[in-house]
Amino acid sequence: METPVLQTPTLLYLSKSDITRLGGNSSQLYLDAVYHALTLHARGEIVQPLKPYLRWGGDESHIADRIIAMPAYLGGADTVAGLKWVGSRHDNPSRYGIDRASALTILNDPETNYPIAILEGSLISGMRTAAVTALAAKYLAPTNFHRVTCIGCGPIARMQLLTLLEQFPTIAIIHLFDLNPAAAQWLVTELHQSYPQVEYQVAETAKDAVQAGEVVITCTTTDKPYLPFDWLRKGTFISNISIMDVHKDVFLKADKVVVDDWDQCNREKKVLNQLVQEGHFSREQLHAELGQILIGQRPGRESNEEIILLNPIGIAIEDVACAHAIYQKALSAQVGIQLNLY
Ligand SMILES: NC(=O)c1ccc[n+]([C@@H]2O[C@H](COP(=O)([O-])OP(=O)(O)OC[C@H]3O[C@@H](n4cnc5c(N)ncnc54)[C@H](O)[C@@H]3O)[C@@H](O)[C@H]2O)c1
Repeated sequence: METPVLQTPTLLYLSKSDITRLGGNSSQLYLDAVYHALTLHARGEIVQPLKPYLRWGGDESHIADRIIAMPAYLGGADTVAGLKWVGSRHDNPSRYGIDRASALTILNDPETNYPIAILEGSLISGMRTAAVTALAAKYLAPTNFHRVTCIGCGPIARMQLLTLLEQFPTIAIIHLFDLNPAAAQWLVTELHQSYPQVEYQVAETAKDAVQAGEVVITCTTTDKPYLPFDWLRKGTFISNISIMDVHKDVFLKADKVVVDDWDQCNREKKVLNQLVQEGHFSREQLHAELGQILIGQRPGRESNEEIILLNPIGIAIEDVACAHAIYQKALSAQVGIQLNLY
């Protein structure tokens, strides 16, 4: 028997500018990859262990100070495995003038389990999170909505809104609120550059902004809920990206509560987890995981009156699917740097 030829394993490194060059700043690639990942999720064709949160600051540390490891395997026709390793410090912007979050995503070949790529992960992470809101809005937002509200105006908010503007040309007004007025102004300037025809209103209070929106997104770093159910107008779709913003009564009174993954959401003393531990919410009260709606197993919005809460904790299959789509584009466009593993 012939001895197999030993190869020097290599892997592809893709920086944020490589990913941008490959079209990683526009939304459709991410919507397609997230759709693929969530439909596999609904069909049970993924493996995704619960993500560990690495913290070392004790009980006093800020909720956004952590590093999270997010591994996943995606089955189906185009299998891949991988890991997002995402670091966050709440005061990176104010202390160092850098983004709060940084990330690397590693892809592994599911045949050999060898690493095949390392990608800058924060752009993919932010864009896949925006794709989750946009994809969900197609099934859960009121028809022809044109008023969007965003609370918290950092980089995640920017990607959420640019993705929605790209996907929903009917959006006419965007209401913004941030505890830091300069952040809201920064976001107006950013959005205005690409969408000057849209009206931007910076609200005086979070309540004013929330009451104005048909689609509401939270993108803060709060650890204390501030958004009660009675701020929401009938027909609102709320995408609770920053997870700790809505009061318990939103979970209890919304017509439909949707998550990306029940087990990943029901952890870490998040609001949903608190309700479950108190015996006030259970999986039976959950309307659906988002993938179930995408494959038609559960209905989306059924009337323009419904108030629908999406509580997407963010899951590894989304990062791995998006990173894999970008990796495949990079191979055919010959973008990135090949690194020798040995
Ligand atoms: N669910 C997911 O999949 C997912 C993915 C990525 C990021 N996130 C979350 O998105 C959030 C935003 O990320 P970022 O990188 O833009 O953070 P950031 O720190 O850069 O920006 C957050 C902004 O929110 C403002 N803010 C904080 N508390 C507020 C409050 N109570 N009311 C109004 N404004 C407030 C801050 O002033 C700041 O401008 C984080 O909580 C992050 O964990 C969620």
